Amino acid sequence: MQMNTAGKMLPYFHVASLPVYGDVILAPMAGYSDVPYRALCRAYGSAMHYTEFVPVEALLGRRSRNRFWMRLDRQPDEHPMVFQIFGDDAQKILRAAQNVLDLEPDIIDINMGCSTRQVSGRGAGVGMMPQPELVCETFNLLARHLPVPVTGKIRLGWDATQQNFLEIGQIMVENGAALIAIHGRTKVQKYDGRANWDAIAALKQAVPVPIIGNGDVTTPADIEHMKAYTGCDAVMIGRAAIGNPRIFARQEKEKLPFSEILAAICLHLREMLAYYGDPQGLIRFRKHLKQYVDGRCLPEATLNQLLQTDDARRFCRILLDMRDWKVETGDETTPISNRHPSSLL
Ligand SMILES: Cc1cc2nc3c(=O)[nH]c(=O)nc-3n(C[C@H](O)[C@H](O)[C@H](O)COP(=O)(O)O)c2cc1C
Repeated sequence: MQMNTAGKMLPYFHVASLPVYGDVILAPMAGYSDVPYRALCRAYGSAMHYTEFVPVEALLGRRSRNRFWMRLDRQPDEHPMVFQIFGDDAQKILRAAQNVLDLEPDIIDINMGCSTRQVSGRGAGVGMMPQPELVCETFNLLARHLPVPVTGKIRLGWDATQQNFLEIGQIMVENGAALIAIHGRTKVQKYDGRANWDAIAALKQAVPVPIIGNGDVTTPADIEHMKAYTGCDAVMIGRAAIGNPRIFARQEKEKLPFSEILAAICLHLREMLAYYGDPQGLIRFRKHLKQYVDGRCLPEATLNQLLQTDDARRFCRILLDMRDWKVETGDETTPISNRHPSSLL
């Protein structure tokens, strides 16, 4: 945390006039970065939050509690809150953005990075990158008509021969973009190969707005390395944050005592139950649980019991036994104390 001499928190950077008080940010991840998980990541230090991406078409019709509108839920004190939307038509993107303004996003972000065929194949997501005129029209319209900053999340380009991130970055900024997040891979790469941090550095040099670097940050050391190597204003962490929210506190998962992982599991489950209800919260928590315990040698039978029950109380009782199991094997140092699983329910 950056402080001045009087002990006042200082922003790391601004998105237009919005201050951001940190340099690590949870990546938008459909199916993962929902309200409960963002609450945890924020508690551990993530400085700015994106919703999961939402197709603009879903936001043009009648409002309902369907899965897309739910993606725009947020906690009242969750700031800066970025609503991420995607589409292939500038006017529709504008109308969708205007339609969600009453939910008070701090920022509207255009997804220009999604590589799935359904999205990029129709010219949305990273499918916008081969269409500079669409990028120009979209940012121009949004920046002129929206009262909040407009940002974009891009990749390097479509493939190795069409890495036009510098051109697209310039167009975005000339048309009012207030920040760019860049994942250092092409559409064709999806998640293969290494993310290109040189490209992130080149974009930072080329444009005057803050740059968030993204791709292959898996440890606290990587955070510092990416910042030093690219000069980016903040580091965005995706896959390595799943089952590992303490990465935002710059803590190494491998070095955490098991009690701390259990504590994060308990907090996360509590948030899931509060948001989704019982047993939906528990059922949706299963995929997170697998990631939390990944790499820890837990008895397979215990893990299976946890993954199979849809009774939150039973889940917590099994968690308690896991804690005891760890204590008995002498692998434990810190008691869970007041974050005891039984206090969850
Ligand atoms: C399961 C999953 C869902 C994702 N959903 C989104 C999304 O909704 N919006 C977006 O801009 N990127 C999305 N991404 C991409 C991530 O934000 C990030 O760019 C990518 O995972 C690379 O970062 P990492 O190496 O830190 O994981 C998703 C990635 C994953 C793995």
